[in-house]
Amino acid sequence: MSHDPYLADPTRYDSMQYRRSGKSGLRLPGVSLGLWHNFGGANNADTMRETMRTAFDLGVTHYDLANNYGPPPGSAEENFGRIFAQDLKPYRDEIIVSTKAGYDMWPGPYGDFGSRKYLLASLDQSLARMGLDYVDVFYHHRPDPDTPIEESMMALDSAVRSGKALYAGISNYGPDATRAAIDILRDLGTPLLIHQFSYSMYERGPEEELIGALESEGVGSIVFSPLAQGLLTDRYLKGVPEGSRVTHSQFLNENQLSQTYLDRTRALNDIAAGRGQSLAQLAIQWVLRGDHITSALVGASSAEQLRNTVASLDFPALTDDEIAAIEPHAVHGTHRGA
Ligand SMILES: NC(=O)c1ccc[n+]([C@@H]2O[C@H](COP(=O)([O-])OP(=O)(O)OC[C@H]3O[C@@H](n4cnc5c(N)ncnc54)[C@H](OP(=O)(O)O)[C@@H]3O)[C@@H](O)[C@H]2O)c1
Repeated sequence: MSHDPYLADPTRYDSMQYRRSGKSGLRLPGVSLGLWHNFGGANNADTMRETMRTAFDLGVTHYDLANNYGPPPGSAEENFGRIFAQDLKPYRDEIIVSTKAGYDMWPGPYGDFGSRKYLLASLDQSLARMGLDYVDVFYHHRPDPDTPIEESMMALDSAVRSGKALYAGISNYGPDATRAAIDILRDLGTPLLIHQFSYSMYERGPEEELIGALESEGVGSIVFSPLAQGLLTDRYLKGVPEGSRVTHSQFLNENQLSQTYLDRTRALNDIAAGRGQSLAQLAIQWVLRGDHITSALVGASSAEQLRNTVASLDFPALTDDEIAAIEPHAVHGTHRGA
């Protein structure tokens, strides 16, 4: 790819849809880009750069990170920071960057879970790795069973009051802990902006309670792995391609490609083909159906994949009949090989 000075595409805001995060003032793109995979130490520098540029050119204004993304942990933030400085820095006010702390990051008792000590030190480290003065959203990455939730929420509130984050988020919290977090943050004067959780045709747990609770509290919902890490695409329908996530990630393996999985995924792929689109595009339109979800947070191992995914927003909305036809195949747990 060309490393010429980057000039953002002037048409970048022409077709992206932006959705308000709950009752906040912040709107997020219908598709956001996550850097959990594909942006680590061993990934191709040109591909990363092209994917980040392509995102912004398509109106994908939101990049999602965490302290531990890599591998090695921290390397995704470093790679993001380098590319951001090269290409995107002049556009900082057009971009939403999020990071998180909550998983194991450094040795000893202060590098994991949810203490104030860990969260605020980690945010400083993340800012240094990314070369940023502030992030737009700082998340507690997972609930901590041993730290009082008040302490973790007060750390998020402090991050916002210090100016190192503009908004507070939580991730992977269940419905009860989410309601508690919402109440505490509201009392502190830093309303919860958004919850980040897993949701897809194959991960339907949040439909039971969480999505409704967030909606009624006016909190945004950004859903991760809406393509079930690639399982809700055509990637594995003709075998396991070289370099695909199944071949290198500890979070996805061949056992998940069961016959049941293949049958359901082929049926969904046929429905997508009937609409003249890819399964990835159908999967994104499905999570964004209705107004309950703010943004679909995807990964991409190439700029081309991201282009394909974002183009989902150009198709007509799913009809009730199409949603009904999808239903028998969109079975919770399918991505685990069930
Ligand atoms: N808060 C949390 O605990 C948490 C947990 C997980 C993820 N996340 C966030 O969510 C983001 C997305 O997660 P994810 O990467 O699992 O999401 P995903 O969008 O479900 O999966 C991305 C993978 O799907 C494949 N893919 C993407 N677009 C495709 C297309 N158009 N056609 C065919 N295949 C396509 C690629 O697989 P190949 O690599 O095989 O090409 C890509 O790496 C993460 O980066 C992170 O920001 C957060």
